[in-house]
Amino acid sequence: MKRAGKKIALLSGDGIGPEVIRESVKVLDTLSSNSDINFSYYDAPIGAEAIDKYGNPFPDKTKEICDSCDSILFGAIGDPKYDNNPKAKIRPEDGLLEMRKYLGLYANIRPVKVYDSLMSSSPLKASILKNTDFIVFRELTGGIYFGEKGLDEKKNSAFDTCRYTREEIERISHLAFEEAKKRKNILTLVDKANVLETSRLWREVVQNISKEYKDVNVQYLFVDNAAMKIITNPSDFDVILTENMFGDIITDEASVITGSLGMLPSASIGSKVSLFEPIHGSYPQAAGKNIANPMAMILSSSMMLDLAFGLKEYSEIINQAVKDALENGIVTEDINQEKSYTTSYVGDWISERVKKLL
Ligand code: IPM
Ligand code: MN
Repeated sequence: MKRAGKKIALLSGDGIGPEVIRESVKVLDTLSSNSDINFSYYDAPIGAEAIDKYGNPFPDKTKEICDSCDSILFGAIGDPKYDNNPKAKIRPEDGLLEMRKYLGLYANIRPVKVYDSLMSSSPLKASILKNTDFIVFRELTGGIYFGEKGLDEKKNSAFDTCRYTREEIERISHLAFEEAKKRKNILTLVDKANVLETSRLWREVVQNISKEYKDVNVQYLFVDNAAMKIITNPSDFDVILTENMFGDIITDEASVITGSLGMLPSASIGSKVSLFEPIHGSYPQAAGKNIANPMAMILSSSMMLDLAFGLKEYSEIINQAVKDALENGIVTEDINQEKSYTTSYVGDWISERVKKLL
């Protein structure tokens, strides 16, 4: 007998989004055809695609679908026609920020893991990269991204405000401490407490919460120093906790040291529903060519199985199938230019592998 089905919203978005989402669905369908679980999917427009069709990058129709689903898979957004036009009134990115606020996606979680078979593609030496395995918790709905902002009439001055409440800091901190407990019990708060008032509030709140997690060793690092240490000593980190803007910057930094941007998944945890997306962007140059790497998206759906649905056993099967694909050289051209396979072939192979592993 099948367990109750799960409803998944598919926000494919722009560029390579639809192609990588398709491969994720392929893998999830293989899982449901060969197990006791069941998924149904609901397509919803977002980003440039939604601006073209509805004049809005996060239309009401998409809000309704997200509200009625158990989880969301998100491809990518962004289109060069907006990037090169500073005067554009509506941008795909506005839809992304509005979606984060609307759905209350307060914690963005990015695991930074190094695959042995890809170590040679990293800009770092293997001796430095060895044993790197950490996870960043970035606050996603507060800080300077969402504070009051303005431009004076003469356009001679502008401001952006960074604001945090105790409650906003507390809810993500608890998630990060819980994660540290399951890992190596090390939590690093990245801030700029030597300069910023908000950072001093983060430190105070984290210090208080740490009393509830006696086994977790808490470290504090200024963001400039953290940026260096991610390059010089990446294997020292276990769980990194940080605010929105610092998290934006250091997660991009952290992702390139693995040498495999096309491999990294992420989760954005919300109070009602959570969203799972690859960290690579819309990569417009590759759109429609069947060459994009679907692994980060497939691994994002694996994070969904674990974090949203509590199906850790199936999540591990997908992770194993992706690892097997890598080890067998079943990869797209971003990973091996000499011998590469198409997006859909890699998806087919991983699906077959999942079937065998079940
Ligand atoms: C990200 C992106 C977004 C951010 C942009 C597109 C608004 O860089 O998801 O990290 O800055 O949060
Ligand atoms: Mn970013």
